[in-house]
Formats: sequence, structure tokens, C-alpha cells
Amino acid sequence: MIKELSNPIIKTLISALRDINTDALRFRHNVKEITKILLYEALQTSSLSSKQVRTWAGEEKHEILDASSFVVVTVLRAGMPMLESVMEILPQITGGFLAMKRDEITHKSKLYYDRLPDCKDKTVVIVDVMLATGGSLCDAIEIVKTKGPKEIISLNVIGAPEGLQAVEDTHPDVNIYIAQIDEKLNVDKFIIPGLGDAGDRQYNTPE
Ligand code: PRP
Repeated sequence: MIKELSNPIIKTLISALRDINTDALRFRHNVKEITKILLYEALQTSSLSSKQVRTWAGEEKHEILDASSFVVVTVLRAGMPMLESVMEILPQITGGFLAMKRDEITHKSKLYYDRLPDCKDKTVVIVDVMLATGGSLCDAIEIVKTKGPKEIISLNVIGAPEGLQAVEDTHPDVNIYIAQIDEKLNVDKFIIPGLGDAGDRQYNTPE
């Protein structure tokens, strides 16, 4: 399932990301805000646990999301602020890392580091800003699947129809929540109109 969010706040935050005058601090800030909205949407039907809470009126039971049943996995670099954002909402959630770089000639992603926690029977939320050809996400899903998760959800800020189709064809069981589906990929496999290179924009590295 692919769900594109269409609310006006998301559109406004994304338009600011497209603006080349948006600096790295604001870019990361907007990515984090968009991630929160994506997470709210993705976990809308998650079941709640009961927790004993000491309130002003005494001991009571109240509902919480049990963070121990979730893992958030970021694809470096661009997904870093998204992981931060998820961990700000669910501070007890376990974080995992996949370092990938897309080869500029072949357009294929290459994994050069992974640090995944226990994912057995957990809901794994993979976060990455861009979904272009979908190669990085397909690779990330394959790696996570070897760890026996209960389900995998992907949160993405921007993507191209071709890449989304490729991920859905290969992994129809993964639900993708995306803030914006753009028009297409160009010959260099950049998203059009897109945002430029999200990793470079967020960390002030030359393009
Ligand atoms: C970008 C982006 C995704 C990937 C998407 O990362 O953050 O991880 O490309 O492309 P794909 O769908 O075609 O695989 P990049 O390799 O530029 O690394 P970075 O995050 O370090 O900039």
C-alpha cells in the first residue's frame, strides 16, 4: 500500500524544502516536522498498551504505544533527522542504521555499514527522505526482512512514481507513507521537480 499525504501543512513544508534559499537548519527542521505527520498517519491503527501512571489524582492506568514493539531504521545520511524525529516522539524506541550510497554512474545503492538491533516480531519503521529508483529502499527492506520483523513500514518525504512502483512490485507487503509523489525521474535518476540532494542540503556538503 502506498499512501501519499495531501494536507496543506505537508505541502507548505515541502515547498520550503524545494526553495534553494532554505538553509540546512531549516531543511532538517522541516524534514523532522514532516516525519512526525507521516508517523501519526502510519501508526493510526496501532494497538495501545496500558500503563500505570502516577497522576495528580493518584495511581491510574492510561494508554500508551509500547515503544518496545517498534524499531526505527534510518538510511544514512539523509534519513538521520527522520530517525531523530521518531525518537523524539517515542524516546524508548530502538534505533538502527543502514549506511548506503547510491553510485552516481550505475544508480545502484551500495551498503557499507549496518547496525540493526533485534527486529524479531517488531514493527520496523524504515525512514529515508528520498525514494528515487527505489533501489535503496528495496535493499533496506531485504536486509530488515532477514531479521524476522512482524511488519515493515516505510516513511519517505518525496519520491518518484517509478521507484514507488518498483518497491511495491518487489515488496507488496510493505506499507509506504510518503509526503509527496513527484512527477518522474530524469536520465540521471534524480527526482523531478524534487529537492536536490537531501543529504547535501541537510549537511552543507557540495553537490
Ligand atoms: C539518496 C537518498 C536515498 C537514495 C534514494 O541517498 O537519501 O537513500 O538516494 O535513491 P534510490 O531510490 O534511487 O536508491 P544518497 O545515496 O544520495 O546518499 P546520502 O543520503 O548520503 O546523500
